[in-house]
Amino acid sequence: MLYSEKVMDHFTNPRNVGEIPDADGVGEVGNAKCGDIMKMYIKVQNGVLTDVKFKTFGCGAAVATSSMATELIKGKPIEEALQLTNKAVVEALDGLPAVKLHCSVLAEQAIKAALSDYYRRQGIDPGPLVGEVHECEGCCEGH
Ligand code: FES
Repeated sequence: MLYSEKVMDHFTNPRNVGEIPDADGVGEVGNAKCGDIMKMYIKVQNGVLTDVKFKTFGCGAAVATSSMATELIKGKPIEEALQLTNKAVVEALDGLPAVKLHCSVLAEQAIKAALSDYYRRQGIDPGPLVGEVHECEGCCEGH
């Protein structure tokens, strides 16, 4: 299995690992396919994600995609973070082996879960805002 240099970099030196004790939103999701889990913490100030951290019991690809995903949304407005897809994360990593594409879904789902939690805490129904989570986009395993 061949990983890009960027994947190896984010796997061996993941960014934004940890927790935010006073987070404004926390999302925890599990990957139905492999049983791995991911927890995402966000800090929001004036509609901007000022801090993002994650913890995972996941494979190397899950670590790398989550690390890249947190890098992509940190410092960005919430609206931009909501647009993040696992496909964009995979592209930013110069690709993932096909059998590992499902791992990248975990990061997108965790971010959306954290944003939903944030909206709920603000008394806003996150449904229409957070929208649909992409299911294994581009995954060729046929499930
Ligand atoms: Fe479970 Fe990658 S194998 S997240």
